[in-house]
Amino acid sequence: MARIGLLTGGGDCPGLNAVIRAVVRRGLAGEGHSFVGFRHGWAGVLADDAIELTRESTAGILPRGGTILGTSRTNPFADGQDGTASIRRTLEARGVHVLIPIGGEDTLGVALRLHGAGIPVVGVPKTIDNDLGGTDVTFGFQTAVQIVTDAIDRLHTTAESHNRVMVVEVMGRHAGWIATHAGIAGGADAILVPERPFSIDEVVAHLRRRHERGPNFSIVVVAEGATPREGTLQTHESTATDAFGHVRLGGIGVTLEREIEQRTGYESRVTILGHVQRGGTPVAYDRVLATRFGVGAMDAAAGGRFGVMVALRSTDVVEVSLAEALREPKLLDPALYETAQLFFG
Ligand code: F6P
Repeated sequence: MARIGLLTGGGDCPGLNAVIRAVVRRGLAGEGHSFVGFRHGWAGVLADDAIELTRESTAGILPRGGTILGTSRTNPFADGQDGTASIRRTLEARGVHVLIPIGGEDTLGVALRLHGAGIPVVGVPKTIDNDLGGTDVTFGFQTAVQIVTDAIDRLHTTAESHNRVMVVEVMGRHAGWIATHAGIAGGADAILVPERPFSIDEVVAHLRRRHERGPNFSIVVVAEGATPREGTLQTHESTATDAFGHVRLGGIGVTLEREIEQRTGYESRVTILGHVQRGGTPVAYDRVLATRFGVGAMDAAAGGRFGVMVALRSTDVVEVSLAEALREPKLLDPALYETAQLFFG
């Protein structure tokens, strides 16, 4: 019988609660393991802030967005510090045998360092951005894509009614997965992604061609991390960074709206979907994937397989080494973008 620690780190994501519930249910069904949930990501392990997780306390959370544990972007290794000793102390004091961190590249990067220091960890990949290596898909992504698709559908009818260009800015950090999937699903007329720096002249020429041909409206989806080709357009980047050194993204949609309107004369509006994409209930696909990941993580922990992350490969849940998963981010598949391009304009 083992004592399992769980935490959720980084940005929240629909499906986190489904993972927590699945780990607990799988662990109870097996050999009666017990569970402690650390609050607010690594902050809870550093400060020994935790709650007991039981069948009762995790009942009814499957469809709930957010995380019952709370989350943060606390980095135990920020500014040259090393939180390993205090993490080890907390785990020993709580009698935790295995830690299951649920998070993206930052949270799992910390997990990998702890594994290197001999702390038993099993990772679960989470991010709406879908940019984590080692797995075909992360839970939360499909929910974000559905939210953006619904928004594009709504923007379509108002764009058509007013003969406007609608710029929709979506999340995704340095990957264009959300933008491209939702852009295809919503029939976008242009999609701008971080993997392909754009030329504002080309965007404008494309919209002109489209409007001259007939349609008097357009939908432009832009990923928050999309950038203009060097020297082609002035943008305003934030200098604010989080504890992992990531710059806060967002705002490219505002620049695009202004440039498109000024250069074409077409009335334009921007919608920045922001954290709406991360909030609320997970779609069925993410509930199922999160549940399968939770079961897989508990099985890896019970089997003594540490330093791994559960992952989806084709239709199977497998275990991959954390080191392999974190080697490089998973950027947009160029073939998918080419498919999207067929429908531009
Ligand atoms: O990684 C998930 C994500 O939602 C990104 O798409 C976005 O850039 C970032 O987190 C926003 O972070 P925060 O919630 O800290 O503003």
